Amino acid sequence: MKIIIVGASGTMGKYLTSAFEKEHEIVRAASKGGDIRVDITAAESIENMYRQVGAFDSLICTAGPTYVGPWKKMTDKEFRKGIEGKLMGQINLVLIGQHYINPKGSFSLITGALSNEPQLNFANASAANGAVEAFVRAAAIELENGIRINAVSPTVIENSPHYFPFFPGDIPVTMQQLEYGFRKSIFGANTGQVIKPY
Ligand SMILES: NC(=O)c1ccc[n+]([C@@H]2O[C@H](COP(=O)([O-])OP(=O)(O)OC[C@H]3O[C@@H](n4cnc5c(N)ncnc54)[C@H](OP(=O)(O)O)[C@@H]3O)[C@@H](O)[C@H]2O)c1
Repeated sequence: MKIIIVGASGTMGKYLTSAFEKEHEIVRAASKGGDIRVDITAAESIENMYRQVGAFDSLICTAGPTYVGPWKKMTDKEFRKGIEGKLMGQINLVLIGQHYINPKGSFSLITGALSNEPQLNFANASAANGAVEAFVRAAAIELENGIRINAVSPTVIENSPHYFPFFPGDIPVTMQQLEYGFRKSIFGANTGQVIKPY
């Protein structure tokens, strides 16, 4: 399978790349490096990525920039980081990618437990996650040719200990659980699902 991983240089992306590259052809994408550079906040950059990659079977996105910070300092400008990044970035990966993906292919987007369980400082990610999850359900009934779409929604992951203090009481999701959440999305039959790998 030819799998594009957008966000391949990040905490999740690095782990998923090493998990899947033994069995599959991986195209690593990120804004500052990888096999291909893509800025998901710019539709033309996404189009350019797909043009370079050509037909593919599966897209994993673990790139989802959001604003993390104090509520009282949040303005329209900060909030747009998640809207243009995690939300529109992922939506455009699907809207544009539907014209390049092979029949029976799949899109696996990233959201997070914050959509249902808010934590202080993360309102922007909560809102973006909720909208991405609604988009996934809607896109699942629109996509043709057996193309599937799911969101993987972990709580804080074990390789991000710097986030642990922001998620009191949450048992971190192991990297293996995260991997298997994506495995369910890519290799399973379901579509329109929000997969909680915990
Ligand atoms: N870490 C956690 O505990 C956790 C838990 C639940 C959900 N999440 C969500 O999962 C996602 C990934 O988390 P992570 O910890 O793996 O993040 P990370 O380590 O910061 O990695 C982010 C990746 O996305 C790429 N990226 C950032 N902005 C981009 C852009 N505009 N265009 C293309 N690529 C871009 C980065 O590479 P470049 O800098 O080169 O672009 C990097 O490869 C985030 O949306 C986060 O909200 C994280």
